[in-house]
Amino acid sequence: MRLKRIVVMISGGGSNLQAIIDSVKQGYIKAEIVGVLSNKSNAFGISRAEKEGIPVKVVEKEGLTEEEFNSANALALEKFAPDLIVLAGYLSIIEGSIIQKYKNRIINVHPSLIPAFCGMGYYGLRVHEAVLSYGAKLSGATTHFVDEGADTGPVIMQKPVQVLNGDTPESLQKRILEVEHEILTKSVKLFCEDKIRVSGRKVVVDE
Ligand code: GRF
Repeated sequence: MRLKRIVVMISGGGSNLQAIIDSVKQGYIKAEIVGVLSNKSNAFGISRAEKEGIPVKVVEKEGLTEEEFNSANALALEKFAPDLIVLAGYLSIIEGSIIQKYKNRIINVHPSLIPAFCGMGYYGLRVHEAVLSYGAKLSGATTHFVDEGADTGPVIMQKPVQVLNGDTPESLQKRILEVEHEILTKSVKLFCEDKIRVSGRKVVVDE
């Protein structure tokens, strides 16, 4: 059976991309990363992909209409022909027709326990700032399939992270990022082994 084809979409540092690259190289994820798609030409994650000889495509929003941006993304994805798309810190909205075309084949990682501290405006350090200002005792990371909403798709995997006395947004982010790497690579691994089934909002994972 052929290896599943993965495209990873990034906007920034790409530590989640790196975790997937490393997991493929170690044989933990049995798949091939056929492309990286970024909406930022200066994303450090691009250099991570280039180091591994992974094809990179940049589609920046600047200078394009919404429609041009969306069709450029759709075309780039079509050329990569992925079985799975992974949003690893991708900070642009994925257009509805792309979500429909790849229904339950787009996985996102979010640095909180959805449905808490997620949705429009909750990204990067803002998530952890909100957790600390609320005084929550538990945060964590979530992987989910992407639907038309912001962080609203069916949950695949979650893992909690204790909020510690004296935590700053940065110290909390650091601990949660490690958990993101863990559950994102595990979610991708199990997807590639056809061990994830979705019915409605319910996701059954055969671990
Ligand atoms: C992570 O915090 C992730 O949860 C969020 O964006 C950040 C991406 O980090 N979606 P990296 O670019 O993968 O290092």
